[in-house]
Amino acid sequence: MLETLSLASHGPVIPVIVIQRLEDAVPLAEALVAGGVKVLEVTLRTPVALQAMEAMAKVPGAIVGAGTLRSPQDVANAKNAGCRFGVSPGFTEAIGSACQQHGLPLLPGVSTASEVMQANAAGYGFLKLFPAVAVGGVNLLKALAGPFPDVAFCPTGGISLQTAPDFLNLPNVKVCGGSWLTPQDAVDAKDWARITRLAAEASALR
Ligand code: 3PG
Repeated sequence: MLETLSLASHGPVIPVIVIQRLEDAVPLAEALVAGGVKVLEVTLRTPVALQAMEAMAKVPGAIVGAGTLRSPQDVANAKNAGCRFGVSPGFTEAIGSACQQHGLPLLPGVSTASEVMQANAAGYGFLKLFPAVAVGGVNLLKALAGPFPDVAFCPTGGISLQTAPDFLNLPNVKVCGGSWLTPQDAVDAKDWARITRLAAEASALR
């Protein structure tokens, strides 16, 4: 089973992807992989999300995970769709148990010190800080490094190509997440070359 921290070894940015039309799923994944971005978080936010994950998981080079896991049923669905990891905006014991039961490595979301402690207590040491900028961004991550020097973060939410280096320069940040690699207007225009350029730019960070 994949170790979630290994996701950070594939590049500095994990794209947070919302698929509105199933037909876009494979070309979008191919465009990202062509730009050097292999780890893809596909959110469970649209009716076609599960089918999209299933299709994208078959794209050579892609490591597809499910984002927006909110319930044990979401975990089961993501696993059945072929996802190799899961990401949740927050953390509950129910999500943690379901991920263990289904063998789905989890990157759980936190936004406070108490939540870091709860996720740590459940065995998680690599956490998504969400929504990163809204809850304090770089300053919060610096502050959390004091009491939690052994905890690694993937900040996500409100980060851009311009601000990502500020996060990636922090010792407790291993990778960051963001939706800027897959702008909806580029997807609507099927401008896959633009997505590949955005992915290549993100891959070159750090
Ligand atoms: C999300 O889960 O929606 C992420 O936080 C994406 O946030 P962003 O659109 O600000 O990158």
